[in-house]
Amino acid sequence: MGVKNRVALITGGGRGIGRAIALKLAAGGAKIVLLDVLDPEKMAKVVEECTAAGAPLAKGYKLDVTNEQDVERVVDQVNTDFGGIDILVNNAGITRDDLLLRMEVSAWDAVINVNLKGTFLMCKVAARYMIRSRRGRIVNIASVSGLVGNPGQANYAASKSGVLGLTKTVARELAGRNVTANAVAPGFIETDMTAVLPAEVKEKFMQTIPLKRAGQPEDVAQAVAFFADDDSAYITGQTIAVDGGMVM
Ligand SMILES: NC(=O)c1ccc[n+]([C@@H]2O[C@H](COP(=O)([O-])OP(=O)(O)OC[C@H]3O[C@@H](n4cnc5c(N)ncnc54)[C@H](O)[C@@H]3O)[C@@H](O)[C@H]2O)c1
Repeated sequence: MGVKNRVALITGGGRGIGRAIALKLAAGGAKIVLLDVLDPEKMAKVVEECTAAGAPLAKGYKLDVTNEQDVERVVDQVNTDFGGIDILVNNAGITRDDLLLRMEVSAWDAVINVNLKGTFLMCKVAARYMIRSRRGRIVNIASVSGLVGNPGQANYAASKSGVLGLTKTVARELAGRNVTANAVAPGFIETDMTAVLPAEVKEKFMQTIPLKRAGQPEDVAQAVAFFADDDSAYITGQTIAVDGGMVM
């Protein structure tokens, strides 16, 4: 059954893992909605790539997932433009790493706001439309940091653990309406987010990965596509780690 003609919203879809998820779902024939703080012109290239990959319809919308009014307005616009909302991938995320004793409250607030509050707002608003159509797939991007913690990432790990608790609760609340909610927890994936890490930090990560390589955005997209599939109807509240075996 796949994702053919399903309307898929991907937050942070303008680059990195979000872009790879959009392309994967586009290749399956889904209609693609990119939601990102990036200007629509910057998203235009990814929109073109999605169309080339097989999306019958693709469009980018500027959206800050932390802004409730923005989320309500844009999701409603998408529903009008695309005629429904079937799949929501909460991928937008940021890091502001520092050790606990040095972490500024502003760094804590920024990360919790985008990663956790943003995911909550998107779930809340998109769920209204999914409940009406009695069908839906929510996939939240967490992190192995949220599973096992990571020095220097108190804010990030807390936000991603929060995403896992949120996912399980959404799964329980919406199960009766045929809406599933699952999470994907990436390990070390090569994107702009990890490109800024010092070489010794990357080397340390590499030593903890049994498969001995960094992950690619496409590795994460594979797991997202599995949860987003019409056929994954009996799987909810679950987490798949895409981490080369880092956490088992
Ligand atoms: N790269 C990794 O190793 C890794 C590991 C674990 C989890 N993750 C998670 O995967 C997701 C994607 O990460 P990535 O590596 O592709 O990062 P990235 O920085 O390359 O891309 C993140 C995207 O989110 C968008 N974004 C940021 N704030 C936003 C907001 N307020 N509203 C809407 N969009 C916003 C950015 O513009 C960007 O396009 C994140 O949730 C991240 O925490 C990444």
